[in-house]
Amino acid sequence: MFKVAIVCMSDKGSKGEREDISTQVIEKIILENGYKITKKVLISDDFQKIKDTLIEICDNNHADLILTTGGTGFSKRDVTPEATEEIIEKRVPGIPEAIRAYSLTITKRAMLSRATAGIRKDTLIINMPGSPKAVEESLTYIISELKHGLEILVGSASECARK
Ligand code: MTE
Repeated sequence: MFKVAIVCMSDKGSKGEREDISTQVIEKIILENGYKITKKVLISDDFQKIKDTLIEICDNNHADLILTTGGTGFSKRDVTPEATEEIIEKRVPGIPEAIRAYSLTITKRAMLSRATAGIRKDTLIINMPGSPKAVEESLTYIISELKHGLEILVGSASECARK
């Protein structure tokens, strides 16, 4: 069973001024799909704090998959993609491309998400938008293909079955 960490970036949430519904949405989808949640973290939109949190989870192998929510938009404090890009070793552009392509069929505002994805050590990190609606739409779309990627990443599958 793959281990999942959920990291929510929210200045308001971290001060207790806003309920973190997006983490609950992720949790529900993740559990329904047979993953195990090993960590849930709610932090402010602080660049260094985001980097430290992601590094700590990856380098201690606390999760095979980190799903972040929030901080992918245009506000001055939105720095999740930049913090993620500084700590990953490999880029995985196809996942945010797929999320945006699908999301654009729902709302043209999906073009405003700057989300990224990548791999550090044995952990895949995927940024998702901040709103519960956007998170649900994004994660529901990609979830079916993640296990295959994770199997290759952790070495339990060595290649793709090709037709
Ligand atoms: N993606 C989906 N599927 N559905 C949405 O409603 N909202 C967009 C976009 N992606 C949206 C979406 C909006 S309005 C913004 S501003 C960006 O995600 C960034 O969101 P964030 O700043 O909350 O991370």
